[in-house]
Amino acid sequence: MTDRRVVILLGPPGAGKGTQAVRLSEGLGLPHVSTGDLFRENLSKSTELGLRAKGFMESGKLVPDELVLEMLFDRVSKPDCAEGYLLDGFPRTIPQAEALDARLVGEKTVALLLEVDDSLIVGRAAGRLLCKSCGNIQHLEFSPPAKEGVCDQCGGELHRRKDDEPDVVRERLVVYHEQTAPLVGFYENKGLLRRVKGDQSPDAVYADLLKNLEGAV
Ligand code: AP5
Ligand code: MG
Ligand code: ZN
Repeated sequence: MTDRRVVILLGPPGAGKGTQAVRLSEGLGLPHVSTGDLFRENLSKSTELGLRAKGFMESGKLVPDELVLEMLFDRVSKPDCAEGYLLDGFPRTIPQAEALDARLVGEKTVALLLEVDDSLIVGRAAGRLLCKSCGNIQHLEFSPPAKEGVCDQCGGELHRRKDDEPDVVRERLVVYHEQTAPLVGFYENKGLLRRVKGDQSPDAVYADLLKNLEGAV
């Protein structure tokens, strides 16, 4: 065992992983590592990795494991991850989970599953608004900006994600059930899984996450 902590946030698209990861990252003092954010950053800078990931992301498919693993392991090797890290959107396939597992050397690990029914997912994604400047996540209906199109946090410009179109979200959901949902059993078998109801208010979800982290990491 080391003192290093690895917290994994699991859950379908739109479950609230990003929303909760921002709070947890601050609360736990761990860097927030989101593979989706890393790919979007690469895409906005038109890096080779970003361009290779683009087609997969825009059609709601998963980016191939090799690309994800190289990028992720590079990120968690940075000095700010020395005490541990909070994973959002990774792992997403059994091979990714096995690769992570093979790399861990006795870290205190927990997988928190945000459970949200499929029927809520398309609406959550369709209304999502993201800040171009600070990455703040809002929602047209559930956390509406005080001024239309303007981030409550920094005054930056809010925009929509390209993969939040209903057809793409439905495809992401199919992909989730086929390729990512098996990770629930994977972490359950290791005794590392904690389930949290994701269909409550963001404050209530956060409180439940903290409760489930007690004694786990
Ligand atoms: P990624 O960016 O990880 O997307 P995702 O997993 O589909 O999840 P989302 O970011 O859509 O949802 P979220 O759970 O973060 O919800 P949020 O907090 O924003 O991945 C995008 C793509 O990148 C993938 O499709 C794939 O192509 C690629 N990729 C990334 N990682 C990969 C990997 N490991 N392997 C392969 N490919 C990978 O909340 C959603 C909305 O709901 C917001 O508007 C928010 O305000 C609202 N909301 C949040 N909580 C609540 C609440 N409690 N009540 C009401 N509304 C709420
Ligand atoms: Mg997210
Ligand atoms: Zn902002």
